[in-house]
Amino acid sequence: MGKTLNIAVLAGDGIGPEIIDQAIKVTNAVCAKFGHEVKYKHAITGACAIDQVGDPYPPETHQICMESDAVLFGAVGDPKFDNDPTAKVRPEQGLLRMRKQLGLYANLRPVETFKSLLHKSPLRQDLVEGADFMCIRELTGGIYFGEKGRSEDGNTAFDNCVYTRMEVERILKLGFEYAMKRNKKLTIVDKANVLETSRLWRQIGQEMAPSYPEVETEYMFVDNAAMRIIQWPKSFDVMVTENMFGDILTDEASVITGSMGLLPSASIGLHTSLFEPIHGSYPQAAGKNIANPVATILSAAMMFEYAFNMMEEGTLIREAVAASLEAGVVTEDIAGEGKAYKTSEVGTWIAGYIAKK
Ligand code: IPM
Ligand code: MG
Repeated sequence: MGKTLNIAVLAGDGIGPEIIDQAIKVTNAVCAKFGHEVKYKHAITGACAIDQVGDPYPPETHQICMESDAVLFGAVGDPKFDNDPTAKVRPEQGLLRMRKQLGLYANLRPVETFKSLLHKSPLRQDLVEGADFMCIRELTGGIYFGEKGRSEDGNTAFDNCVYTRMEVERILKLGFEYAMKRNKKLTIVDKANVLETSRLWRQIGQEMAPSYPEVETEYMFVDNAAMRIIQWPKSFDVMVTENMFGDILTDEASVITGSMGLLPSASIGLHTSLFEPIHGSYPQAAGKNIANPVATILSAAMMFEYAFNMMEEGTLIREAVAASLEAGVVTEDIAGEGKAYKTSEVGTWIAGYIAKK
């Protein structure tokens, strides 16, 4: 029996609209195939929302997200804000507020390699081949959301890093549960040799670990983890860490697979789950139809799996993406010397593969 899927679409800035269009094509193809009805509600966010209404995450957008079953998100950000440290409103604030208001405390970023792209990795092929791990990043606490400010003369600034037991417990629980579902190894990344928040994380990790006797739990300092990711990425299965460390480590982890344009993410928590590529708004490419839509298409696969518990649908999208990579139907970031396809051509090819299946 088909279902009705209500999806909020927040395309955002830069290449956002172009890549989102491809994810929608693919989602439509999957829904047609499996007999689901799909309804989209488009809403504004990011720089374009600042331009239109002065708010990067307006209340109407939040309302639409809350009323939907899933949020499909493109990217936000615009250079005109990056180069102006005095700007009062920034696109990224919208993203952070959205995470907070939707209670999206966990960001899941799978790091997977594609056989046909191993040669694209900056690492030696034998180091990356078979690397497959899940980064779980805490997303609504820590230094991102602590009190911040400046002294009166403006020459001193601070950002507080705060974590509560509740916040740490719920994200570590997710880490342990994922490890149970995968290869039963959990790496808790912190800086417990320096930071009090990290010592709280480690303490709670040690309290919880005995409840998951099958999971091999290891604790690793973040600097060491940064090194391990490039030295021996295959040593990880599930990694869980706080907000800022997760931000940095997931960028690092994303490039070892060959292209940042390939990696999706899911953010889950208290309200509607959100699915977005891990790359940014790539303003230099906006409107050129050259950006890689695969990360967003794979985010749609995660949406089927995580928000709708539709595993076959997700698997079919993954299969279609792998087929497009093998067939060389790829955008210029991957094509190298070979023929580069347009963003829209890649989306159409993948949707067509699904339709023919
Ligand atoms: C990410 C991004 C955001 C973050 C920025 C755009 C605020 O880098 O989703 O990783 O730091 O969380
Ligand atoms: Mg980031």
